[in-house]
Amino acid sequence: MTANRACPAKGIAPLTMRVVLREFLKHLRLASSATHVRSIPNRGPCLLIPLESRERSGGRLAAQWALDRAEDVSRSVTQLFLGTYMVWDARRQRLTENYFATHDTQGRPLAALPTQAGGGHE
Ligand code: HEM
Repeated sequence: MTANRACPAKGIAPLTMRVVLREFLKHLRLASSATHVRSIPNRGPCLLIPLESRERSGGRLAAQWALDRAEDVSRSVTQLFLGTYMVWDARRQRLTENYFATHDTQGRPLAALPTQAGGGHE
């Protein structure tokens, strides 16, 4: 949590989460069939099952799995569409090329640089 700009809640957040989880586990069992990848694009769905519950969670876990796969597909299609648009738009705008046509590699406007001896056209 401290790599670049430290999270202002880094002291209290892990502590709070530990307390909340301890309270959860006193009363609930957690179960999930969703994929667990680093960016958690599925927002980490999880079943909270009361400890005293006799209900079998197989059906709900199966439904969660199916929904998660369906979300994977729709997310992939959306990403493919938006990614293609981003590349097309970046090529169309040529932002870097246009920027460096008027700036040097240090970001200084070329017009503000002193003209080289004999290089001026005035
Ligand atoms: C479990 C809870 C939390 C986790 C795991 C977490 C994690 C993180 C991480 C990894 C970063 C990036 C740090 C970096 O760039 O190195 C961050 C930044 C940040 N977090 Fe949290 N955080 C949590 C809770 C909170 C809460 C409760 C708040 C506010 C009430 C908060 C506000 C912020 C802010 C404002 C930043 C940006 C800091 C900056 O760039 O100057 N976070 N957090």
